[in-house]
Amino acid sequence: MKTRVTVCIGSSCHLKGSRQVVEAIREMIADHNLEDKVEVAGTFCLGECQKGVCVTVGDTFFSVSPDTVEEFFKTEILAKA
Ligand code: FES
Repeated sequence: MKTRVTVCIGSSCHLKGSRQVVEAIREMIADHNLEDKVEVAGTFCLGECQKGVCVTVGDTFFSVSPDTVEEFFKTEILAKA
């Protein structure tokens, strides 16, 4: 089953760098050849704007930023892929 990663692209998360977060995740998926295992999608506001950039992996919520996205990817996606 594919791991589904969703990144909030609502206006508050957008201001905090959701575009960079999505792009970083896409790049890392490509770098690790995980296209068959992980998919990334955007989602509208998740109602947790103060915690942005809001990301979910399956049903689990994470607060990510362009500075922490690499670490997030390693521990929550790569380690479990
Ligand atoms: S804009 Fe991302 S949770 Fe509201």
